[in-house]
Order: sequence, then C-alpha cells, then structure tokens
Amino acid sequence: MTEQQLVDLLKDMTLEEKLGQLTQLDGSCFSGDGPVTGPEQELGIPSEKFPLAGSILSVTGADRIEQIRRICIEAQPHHIPPIFMADVINGYQTILPIPLALGCTFEEEAAKKTGDIMSREAAADGLHITFAPMVDLVKDARWGRVMESTGESACLNSRMAAAMVEGIQGTKENLDGHLGACTKHFAAYGAPTAGKEYNTVELSERSLREEYLQAYQAAVDAGSAMMMTSFNTLDRIPATGNEKVMRGILRDEMGFEGVLISDWNAIGELVFHHVAVDKKEAARQAITAGVDMDMMSGCYMSRMEELIRVGTVKEELVDESVLRILRLKNRLGLFERPNRVEKQPEFGKELLSEESRKAAREIAAKTMVLLKNEESFLPLDREEDIAFIGPYMEEKGILGAWSFFGDREKSVTVLEGIRSKNPSAQAKKGCGILNPGQTIYGFRFHETNEMTEEETAQSIQEAAEYAAAHKKVVLALGESALQTGEGGSRADITIPDVQKKLLDAVYAANSNLAVIVFAGRPLDIRNIREKAKSILYVWMPGTEGGNAIADILYGDSVPEGKLSMSLPYCVGQCPVFHNELWTGRHAEDGVAVENRFQSKYQDIPNAPLYPFGYGLSYTDFSYSAVELSRSQLKRGERLEAAVTVENTGRTAGAEVVQLYLTDECASVARPVRELKDYQKIHLQPGEKKRVVFTIEEDMLRFYDRDMNYVAEPGAFTVFIGTDSANDNAAVFWLEE
Ligand code: GLC
Repeated sequence: MTEQQLVDLLKDMTLEEKLGQLTQLDGSCFSGDGPVTGPEQELGIPSEKFPLAGSILSVTGADRIEQIRRICIEAQPHHIPPIFMADVINGYQTILPIPLALGCTFEEEAAKKTGDIMSREAAADGLHITFAPMVDLVKDARWGRVMESTGESACLNSRMAAAMVEGIQGTKENLDGHLGACTKHFAAYGAPTAGKEYNTVELSERSLREEYLQAYQAAVDAGSAMMMTSFNTLDRIPATGNEKVMRGILRDEMGFEGVLISDWNAIGELVFHHVAVDKKEAARQAITAGVDMDMMSGCYMSRMEELIRVGTVKEELVDESVLRILRLKNRLGLFERPNRVEKQPEFGKELLSEESRKAAREIAAKTMVLLKNEESFLPLDREEDIAFIGPYMEEKGILGAWSFFGDREKSVTVLEGIRSKNPSAQAKKGCGILNPGQTIYGFRFHETNEMTEEETAQSIQEAAEYAAAHKKVVLALGESALQTGEGGSRADITIPDVQKKLLDAVYAANSNLAVIVFAGRPLDIRNIREKAKSILYVWMPGTEGGNAIADILYGDSVPEGKLSMSLPYCVGQCPVFHNELWTGRHAEDGVAVENRFQSKYQDIPNAPLYPFGYGLSYTDFSYSAVELSRSQLKRGERLEAAVTVENTGRTAGAEVVQLYLTDECASVARPVRELKDYQKIHLQPGEKKRVVFTIEEDMLRFYDRDMNYVAEPGAFTVFIGTDSANDNAAVFWLEE
C-alpha cells in the first residue's frame, strides 16, 4: 500500500479499531498454551474484543499463527492483519549461544550470523518480529538478565547491536524471509540498583548518555524496526511514561521513527510504580510519552476512549501511533501477503538445518573463554585416560533462559560431543545441577533436582572413586540456565552447594583436574580456580554446545573467547567493570593493607577475578610496544596507534587486540580506562601482524560540566593489549 492509502485507511477506522491496533495480546488470550512471559493480570477488555488486537505475541507454528490470524482478520472491520511477535533471543529451533557469550567473540560477523539464522527460522515458521536484540549495558552479575546482553562495554555492545539488527532484518526493505528487530529495553534496564530485578535505576544523565544509550543508538542507526520500553524508572520516572526519554531522546535526538512497544504490562505497572492513580492515567502518560503499542496491559483498549472523549488526550496522538503500526505492517508486506509463510517454499528446510547446526557449533566454540590452562592440561589427547564427571556432562538444558521455542532434546550434550571423538568415553553425573529438592521455576518449565541427600552422597562418593581411578578428570559444572534470565537475580553467584561438594570430593581424589563452567552470568568461581588446572567457561552454548566443547577439549577448535563482562572476585565486589571512574583515593591492588584510606575493601581485592577482555588461547601472543604516528593531535586530525602481534606458540589462533584509552585529566571524572576499539586477528605459528588503530577526536569526547559532548585538550594514554588489564601504553596530547 502507498502512504496515502495507509492514511486513507486510518481516516476510515473507528476509534475502537484504532485502539485495537495499539494493543498486543498474548497468544494465551486466544487458545492453547504458550510461554507466557509475564504475570497474568486483568486486561479490562471483553474477550470478544480480543480479535481487534493489532499484534499477538508468543504464538509460534505456521498453523497456529494462521488460525489466530484468520480470527483477527475476520473480526476486524478493515481486516487488518495482525503482527506476530515473539522472543527469539538466541535462536528459534537452532539455539545459538546466549548473547553474553556471543559478546565474547568480539566478532560482529558471528552476531550477524546468529541474527540471520534465528530470524530465517522464525520467519519461515510465520513470525514477523522478534523482541531482540537486547542491548542493555550490564555491569552487575547479580542481575539475571546479563545473559541477554553482550556485556559491559558500550563500544562492544554498540557494534554487536548493529550486527544483530542487520542479521535479524536481512537486507530487504520488506524484511522478506527475515524478522523485524525490536531492540530492547529502552532505556538502561541493565543497571538496576543492587542487581535486583525490576529495581530502580539511578544514573546520572551523563552516564546514561555517555555509556548506556550508545548501543540503542547503534540499533536505531542500523534500522531497528521497533524499540521496547523498559520496566525501570529513569530519574525516578518510569521509562514507559517518560516523555522526555521516549519523545525527547529516542525520537527527537536519536531519530527513531519505528514502532515503540511497551514491555509486558509496563503501562499498567505505572500504577504499581505509584506514578499513575489508575489505568486511565497510565494510558494517558504512556500515549503522551509516545508509546505506540500496549503489550498486555489493556490500558489503551479499555481506557483511552474516555480520555479522548473528555479531551484529555487528542485523537491525533492515537492516529500518530496507529499510522506507525500500519507502516510497519506495510513494510512487512502483510496487506498483500498476510501469511508470509506461503511464500517460503523452503519452509521446513530452514528449521534446525545441518547448515545452521554447523554455524551454531562454530559460533559456540568462539564464545568459550579459556580462563586457566596450567601445564597445558588442555587440549586433551584422544587416547588419554580421562574421567568425565559432573551434572552437565549429559545435560540437555544448555540453551539459556530465553530459548523455550527450541527443543532441548535436540541439544548435543558434552558427553555426546566427546564420544564423537572418543567413542568409548564414559561419564559419572556425580550430583544434580541444583541442590537436592531445590526447584527453580521458569516461564513454561521448571528445573528441579529429585535426588535425595543420601542418593547424592552416594553418587558423589562413586564419582570420587571414579576420578581416583583415572589419570585426568574433566568436570562439567555450573548454575542452572533458569538461575539467570528474567527474574533471575541472585545474591549468591556461586555454583549450587551440592556441586561444590562434588568439586571438593573429586579434587581430593584426583587433583589433575579441568573444569567446564556452564553459566548465564559471571560467577564467583574462586573455589574452581583454586582446584582446577584448566577452566573453560562455556556460558550457555546452545544446541551444538556439546560438539563445540568437545572441539575445544580436543584441540579441533582453539579457544578465542574474551570476557564480555568482568568476572567478579565475589558477589561483594558487584558491580565490577573495567571502566570504573577515577576517585579521589584510587587504589591499585597490592597497595599496603596498612594504608586504610584508599578506595578499596578491607577483605577482598579491587580487581575482578578475571578482567573484561581476558581469555587464553592454546597458543601465545606477544605484543610490541605501542607506536604512535604522532604524540600531538590537532583538532580534526587523526593519529595512528599500532602494535605488532606475533603468534609465539605452536598452534594457529585468534587474538582480540584491544585498545583502551585514559583521559588523564578532564573537567569531570573519567574512566580509569575504557575500551574504544578492537580488532580480531588470526595468526599462524610464528606469524606477525601489524595492527593499526585510528584515534580521532570523536573517540575522546564526553559530556563536560555543561553537558556539551566535547573532547578536552590534554594528555591521553593509549593501552593496546590482550585484555583490559594490559599495561602496554603510550601517551599523546590533544591540543587546544
Ligand atoms: C518480558 C521481557 C521482555 C520480553 C517481553 C515479551 O517481560 O521483559 O524482554 O520481550 O516480556 O515476552
């Protein structure tokens, strides 16, 4: 349809029809079960009006989508087809690694490929929009949704966000064969106080703009079709009713012209925030803030008509939102082809194809971070006498907390991966993932450990004896996938106690030990670091996780992952991140304990257990000193910073060369250092490569005391190295 036809359609619609278009309902409002992804609440809409909804969420499967589509189209006076949306976060049928793992690739191509695979599979099954990428900057490992982000760096998140949007949306304007992206959660949902889910966000506008908004801007610039509001407050005003943030920043400053949808019942929750006296006032605040679509609160459909009738809200505001939604439906081609699946002749071949599995296996291997590898414990030799032990050895639940559309039975377990290389390999479970009798509830399914204490003690004993009988031990441990994700905040970020007992027993029986860690967050793994000679952090690696792990264990893949988020020494250190600001008493670790008056703890170090950007390989890389093309940078000019990296080991490998900057003195407190650029290189043994970065004025900008985004003259230190703790430095000056 042309723009004029859309405008004419809008003019012909009744107010009730318009408010229907502004409403998204969950599939559970129509029929059957589904991954209800939020709390049930009274919608205030008579069920016979449900088919007027402009969008449906969490319905999958071409047949069921078609069934609900027909109900809506027939019921709608202008037969406007609904948009089907769902949370395809890290995969649809082929499940890829969780986004926090994907960030560890430092590889936009991997992010783009991930977006492409998950999008094509879901589009082939009839979906139109995915609620991804989640680009919230995260720094606190206590928050369960860190698993959905690509980590703590605005630089890394921005590049991954753009790549994900491009992968999800493909290259065609009409998104044919792909999904539209709905980037979330605007804004700064990843900074809840104390890492507690849905908690208050207290950020200065400077931090919000300088760090937290960058990745959303990257997604907008990449053409994200939609944006989703966040549950949290910003400056004590809930984002979903925050006109300054939504109309002022997102639309006017950042140039977003797509459809803005609320998060689940986030409009209704303005009442729970105690900023709206009732759902009518909530509806007023949200439409005034520019929220186009109401996900599962019912406020727009049930209370907006009254607001318009008495003149509190102008109908033009509603029309503006309806037109944006009609434009999106038009971009998707829904008016001409409401059922896009019919045009997918390859339907069915898209889902869990060998090609997708192969890509998932390669990407998963790239996300895994080798944290420790003493005595070159890894890679293993196929002939070696190894005891494989642990609750994750034969666990299928390695897909992550937002992967309920995938079939966990299709996952490749660690043992299955190992057996593909070493067919005689055996494994002992040792214990459950959770403590005996513990249950964690998810969206549709829950995780429980039905082993009794007695059964567990016996099983641990057997595992220890098994360990003692072999030369080496590989132990697969980790938190449950359901201990992260939405509602997954934890104050104890260690592996379940029962697994600590297994670790201790196995270690006591045989200290020749490597540990594979499954997690959706950075965990406190001090106990594992004390006991393991090798540690491979595999996150939640997805459908092909077992094969990817085996590829690394046996050296068919060389580890290349770099931490996308700092691994804290312990939960007391959270939030801990590489770009902390200077303080008046900054303390480097190692400072004399007698020196009390420093910014530090009495009982733990300041440094994380493993820093952002850290990760080992099976080979080694050496770095030359940093060379600068000039030491004085004039306004508008550029300088080059270069290092020569050499593979000094005996195997080919990949290295993420990272550039950090320190603004040595500015009008406001600046980060001690901050990632500003990176390049991933691949080197054969003995091969050298000169890696050149371009530093320009824009990289040096920040919000000064008057909130001007400027670069101030003075000294800057450039660090180029293998992680955020490197000290390979050179200094340049920016002139007046
Ligand atoms: C949830 C999540 C959001 C998700 C939405 C729809 O509450 O916050 O990320 O996309 O509801 O499931």
